Amino acid sequence: MKIYTHLAEWRALRGSPEWAGLSVGFVPTMGALHAGHEALLARARAENERVVLSVFVNPTQFNDPADLARYPRTWDADVALAHPYVDAVLAPPAEAFYPDGYRYRVTENSLGTQLEGAHRPGHFDGVLTVVLKLLNVVQPHRAYFGEKDWQQLELVRGMVAALLLPVDIVPCPTTRDADG
Ligand code: PAF
Repeated sequence: MKIYTHLAEWRALRGSPEWAGLSVGFVPTMGALHAGHEALLARARAENERVVLSVFVNPTQFNDPADLARYPRTWDADVALAHPYVDAVLAPPAEAFYPDGYRYRVTENSLGTQLEGAHRPGHFDGVLTVVLKLLNVVQPHRAYFGEKDWQQLELVRGMVAALLLPVDIVPCPTTRDADG
């Protein structure tokens, strides 16, 4: 498992003969990995020749700066959990993902403003924008999302269809604790 913090280094691997012609599965996360993420990684491992994990705490999806500041960062535990499943981890700094200062973004004007979107203005713009950037950078054949985040999953599926992105979005069942 190799860790990439520089996009240029990651892109060199992605475009190299080492990865040419191989199926690539992708699990996007903000870290703090748990059993639900592990289920996504296991499925990606079973269905693809290469598996990529991203760990990126995306600032633009936090409408409250205090939430961003207290979001758990558990890098060592994340790497240990991911190790058996993953070929590459992408963990870029925020500047690398927002060279434009977030002047350009993806907005969905219907579902994204309801339910969670009604309470967290701009949240789904941030999610969709970063997912689009991640898909562009990783170029996976399949990307795995939990059904737990139903609204996010629906919006990502809608964006992929609307923007004609060449990726299969794979919905994965919710993993529950023993008490439900
Ligand atoms: O579900 C998450 O962890 C995040 O919203 C995602 C999809 C990784 C985008 O930052």
